[in-house]
Parts: sequence; C-alpha cells; structure tokens
Amino acid sequence: MILRDFPPMGVYETLFKFADATNKYMGDPGTHPWAQGYPLTTQIPGGPDLPKSIEFDALDLKYPKATGEPPLLEAIADYYKHFYGANISSENVAVFAGGRPAIFATLAFLLDDTTVALEETEYTPYYDVLKVLDRKVHLISSNEANRFRPSAEDYDIQPLTDTSRVMLVKSNPCNPTGVATGDEELRSLLEKFSAEDKGALIDEAYEFYCDPEPESALKHIENIDDTNIFVIGAATKGLQVPGMRIGWAIASRKHIEIFRNYSSFGMGGVSRASQIYVTKLMERSRITQARNAICKFYNEQRKRYGDGLAELGFELYTGTGGFYHWGKLPQGLTGDGFNERLFAHEAGILPGRLCDMGRTESVSSLEHFARFSFGPLSAESYEDDLSILRESLR
Ligand SMILES: Cc1ncc(COP(=O)(O)O)c(C=O)c1O
Repeated sequence: MILRDFPPMGVYETLFKFADATNKYMGDPGTHPWAQGYPLTTQIPGGPDLPKSIEFDALDLKYPKATGEPPLLEAIADYYKHFYGANISSENVAVFAGGRPAIFATLAFLLDDTTVALEETEYTPYYDVLKVLDRKVHLISSNEANRFRPSAEDYDIQPLTDTSRVMLVKSNPCNPTGVATGDEELRSLLEKFSAEDKGALIDEAYEFYCDPEPESALKHIENIDDTNIFVIGAATKGLQVPGMRIGWAIASRKHIEIFRNYSSFGMGGVSRASQIYVTKLMERSRITQARNAICKFYNEQRKRYGDGLAELGFELYTGTGGFYHWGKLPQGLTGDGFNERLFAHEAGILPGRLCDMGRTESVSSLEHFARFSFGPLSAESYEDDLSILRESLR
C-alpha cells in the first residue's frame, strides 16, 4: 500500500457496527437513526417546501468559478448582512462542497507554528482532521466537572512550545453538547481571538438551531479583513440539504484568495447544479421562513426529547442549540453497551467517547455518555422512540 492508513471518522464506526448487527444502513426506512447528524429533508411544520427540480443551460455546464458562482456568493453575503448587519461583501465568501471541506482547507493551510485550541468535547471529525494533519493541539476543559461549559478564562491560551500563535476551533452551537455561546460572551471571545497572533474557526453548522433565535459570530465582527477569523456555514442542516454538499467560509479577503488558489489546483470549484439549487433556497422570504420554522420546530423537539430522556434516567447536559441531546446514560451503561441493546431494535446512539478530542487507546472519560440525535426524527415518531428507549433500559 502506498497511502497512509487511517480509519473512518467516528460516526462511521457506529454506522458500520449498526450495519453488521442489523444488515441495514442506519437511516434506511424502519431504522431509528439517533446516531446520525442529518436533519429532516422534507418540509417541516411551518417551513418552506424543498424544490424538486432546477433549471440550467449549457453555460451552467462549464467549469464553476474557483470559490463559487457570483449569485450564490452574493446570496450568502446578503444573508449575513440582512440578518446580522455583517460588514462583508461577496469577496469575503468562498464556497466549498459542504462544511467539512471548508474546515479541512482552513486547518490544512494553517502556518506550521500554530497551536490549535479546541474543547475536549467536540465535533468528531475535528479529531481525525487534526490527527491526519499532525497539528499541535491544546485542549480546553469541557467535561462533566464544568458541565461542558468552559469559562471565559479557559480560552486564555498560550501557544505551545515551538509555536507562536493560537487558532481556536469551535462549533457553536456545539456538536455534541448543544451548548451555545452568544451575545456578550461570544463578542468577547471573538475580540480575544481577533488579536494579531490569534485566529478562530467558528463552525456554525447549527446556526438555525438555537433557542430563542439564530445567532452568528458575524453579528459581532466589525471588520473581518482585519482578523484571522473564519466563520463556517453550510446548507447541510439549516437549509435541510446535506446531499447538495454546499458549505462556505466567510473570512478576510486575503484568506479567501488562498482558498481561490487552492481551488485552482485542488478542487476545481463546486458543482454548479448544487450552487443553483442552494441559491434558490436562499431567496430572502424563503430563508426567513426556513429560519423561523427550523428554530421553532427543533426547539420544541429538544424540549420534548429532553423531558422524555430525563424521565428515563438520562443525566442531561444539553445546551440550548443543535439537534442533539448530550448526557450520561442510566444504570452505569456505556455508550457501546447501550448500542448493543438498541441495535436489536434497529436503533443506535453515538457513543460519547467518539466526541472525546483527547481520546487514546485507554478508556475515555466520556465512556458513559451518549449523543442522541433528534435531527432526522419527525414529530410523529416520538412515542415509538421513547418506547424503544424504555424497553432497552429494562
Ligand atoms: C459541527 C458541524 N460542523 C460542520 C458540519 C458539516 O457538515 P457537512 O460537511 O456535511 O456540510 C457538521 C455536520 O455534521 C457538524 O455537525
């Protein structure tokens, strides 16, 4: 073999185990995909419908522009200007084939003398990307002891030996905990990481999934061109189209230029058909309706499942965002032990250890934690879901 060997990202480990145990793919009809991080891809209550077709002509079959087609770049910039008063233009936007490629590109091109700082409990792929790229990592305490809510001082981070700057990587709201950093707290965090030897990647995949309302870092950044801040967004969750593979980075013009250069030799732009589809989803009145509906529906679902799980003995630490519940399992169960029981019902959760950014071969401190996703669940499946959970805890 001529390639370096590495395993698939953690969520896939669970999906493969599920497939081995059930002969089905989690998400197939009849399965209960509580380990999965995708939203409903059908119209939700009060939400807009999802277009079934797009139109394009011969011109759209040409190569796309390296960092995105002008109508989509404009739509994205307009979106942040309208909802957050962001001081940006389309020159501050680069389109990628989803959120992860934008995150990967940002972390791949960091200067070598950079410490990457992230919370101990975070979005599974960060672990794989930082490992593959061999980045120097500082872990910020986020555990049972601080209820997965680091204090402002925890973000006062010095560069590690042989590095001279610090880049924060943070999902907000956080996957898996749902803890959302907003208002003053977010503003001062961004101020801290706007210093010359600092930078931040704020991953806003769950921007719409926030109680009481969506919030973006772009509300608090005065001039992104003067910073090393990258705000990552995607059509994946909020616009309910994970299959379209459209994500974006908002950053200083000089950083967008780096992405353009990268795309010219490493990506070749992103499917024009997907860009046309997502541009349509971003039309002002449609996206306003989508934001409101996603926010309302998923806030209700968070509350319902929170009550149900707590009643079953889960010790929940979930914040006010995202579409996951994060908690300690009842009866001293481990995430993997609970999955063995759930697989018999064609259900499965994400074992907490896969969100442990400091994990090694030995036992993770998140062994008894689990992430329960209500993203793909319709309002009607609640009773069924609860009865499987109840049964599996007998
Ligand atoms: C925190 C977070 N960031 C980014 C993404 C981006 O996903 P995608 O690459 O599917 O657009 C996800 C999806 O699971 C996520 O949970």
